[in-house]
Amino acid sequence: MRQLLAIASMAAMIAVPFSVQAQAQSPFAKPEDAVKYRQSAFSILGTHTGRVGAVVKGDKPYDKAAVEADVAVMETMSKLPWSAFPAGSDLPNSKAKPEIWKEQDKFKAAAEKMQGEVSKLSTAAKSGDLNAIKTAFGAVGQSCKACHDNYRNK
Ligand code: HEC
Repeated sequence: MRQLLAIASMAAMIAVPFSVQAQAQSPFAKPEDAVKYRQSAFSILGTHTGRVGAVVKGDKPYDKAAVEADVAVMETMSKLPWSAFPAGSDLPNSKAKPEIWKEQDKFKAAAEKMQGEVSKLSTAAKSGDLNAIKTAFGAVGQSCKACHDNYRNK
């Protein structure tokens, strides 16, 4: 876990902001590498979102430190996928819709919306107020769904 976090924070440091990435050359040697990277980041994001979701639903007891740790991973992961959408990476093993590359501004806005909601969830997690966590978590979930509805194939 500690190693994973170290890798995640290194990746966060080298991740290029989306807007720069859109014009600059892809940091990935092959489009397949970009697909693997973004799917991995989303997968870890999904795992930790699910853990917080279980607490929000009441399936797991609320433990402030555990929720804070999960949200910290979510916050790091929420920043990573966006450098990994180079043009030409809508490969058959990817669920990314071609609209992503036609509507870069809207896609970017959806990514920023989600990062903002995760950041609010982080504030709520640190406050230790479970009701605030529930509210913020609901907004995070909506921001995930909004992008998936528009830009991810089923
Ligand atoms: C701005 C758009 C956007 C937002 C916001 C977004 N996603 Fe995604 N997500 C995608 C796209 C596009 C894919 C498909 C990636 C691919 O297959 O290349 C994806 C894939 C996934 C996957 C599947 C990863 C795999 O194993 O292949 C999970 C899990 C996931 N997202 C979780 C989340 C969660 C949880 C959130 C919110 C906290 C979120 N996503 C927010 C666009 C988004």
